[in-house]
Amino acid sequence: MMASSDSMPAVAGGLARHIPVLGRRAVEFLAVRDGGIYIDATFGAGGYSREILGAANCSVIGIDRDQRAIALGADLVQAAGGRLVLVEDRFSNLLAVARSCGYAAVDGVIFDLGVSSMQLEGAERGFSFRLDGPLDMRMGGGGPSAADVVAAASERELAAIIATLGEERHARAVARAIAARRRVAPIKTTRALAAIVERVVRARPGAIHPATRTFQGLRIFVNEELPELAAALTAAEQVLKPGGRLVAVAFHSLEDRIVKSFLAGRSRKGGGSRHLPEAAAPAATFRVLTKRPIVPDDAEINANPRARSAKLRAAERTDAHPAAATSAAPLPRLPSLADVVRGRP
Ligand SMILES: C[S@@+](CC[C@H](N)C(=O)[O-])C[C@H]1O[C@@H](n2cnc3c(N)ncnc32)[C@H](O)[C@@H]1O
Repeated sequence: MMASSDSMPAVAGGLARHIPVLGRRAVEFLAVRDGGIYIDATFGAGGYSREILGAANCSVIGIDRDQRAIALGADLVQAAGGRLVLVEDRFSNLLAVARSCGYAAVDGVIFDLGVSSMQLEGAERGFSFRLDGPLDMRMGGGGPSAADVVAAASERELAAIIATLGEERHARAVARAIAARRRVAPIKTTRALAAIVERVVRARPGAIHPATRTFQGLRIFVNEELPELAAALTAAEQVLKPGGRLVAVAFHSLEDRIVKSFLAGRSRKGGGSRHLPEAAAPAATFRVLTKRPIVPDDAEINANPRARSAKLRAAERTDAHPAAATSAAPLPRLPSLADVVRGRP
């Protein structure tokens, strides 16, 4: 699922020479330079980190909430000879992570959002409706699984999650079918859930699998992907030096909307508020570098159909003080993961 990279500077050593969707363009927007410090907020299989380390004599802090991704990065850490540190954490904590690594500010922060091929292809991770496994879907350890959400959420909450985060038109019918089934027996596996969805969402020739949207909605909810992203963008604003770069590759419209509206708000004098008098309005903290999002070309889409929905946005930090630590990004109105699993306030 990854696009091939033709040449790679020495740091890559004998490791795999592949970079993910839009990876080369994304790293170009970071404007990597000797002596720079960069945060790869979604380390995954290390494709972006490898590309950054190969571009200049710089250092990288790689973050991933997936313990397995961090463990598998050990070879790259060794090959990088002290220039790469890996930290298992959520990227919403990136400011604290940078500080714990001894950096008050960095030159670039890059996000390659969503799940990795490694996560999707591991049946035991429970992300795929094509592979039978536990209904888990957690990128990191701890917290409620998808099975916990499917068991605890009310029918109405399930419908809202699947409609809003999965953009599934038949969300109410899916939620009704889940609620009916779980009265008979708990829904514990990916195949069990996929079979329930297949009964109510018709498979159309040439279209995506009927369970795609339901799985997407649950995955985004279980991993709190949208609040994580909104918090991480404000953390990036705080940790970037003037002239530092923020780069994000998103794979669905909900993520991209958050990045787009954050950058629109922060690149406008007034930080997005049209109600402040001009003199009181805070200065813009970012200058947008991608007026329109960068999208993959046909060759990349043909090589990797998942690339079809990718959108890259990039911006440069100004020297203005960070805006108040509120997010300029609108989040869908949904109950929180904690409330759903706790059985509501
Ligand atoms: C698409 S993959 C990144 C692939 C990577 N750029 C590469 O070159 O291999 C996304 C990764 O981000 C991680 N991730 C997603 N959300 C996260 C979050 N909130 N905090 C930390 N890591 C996260 C996932 O666990 C996954 O490994």
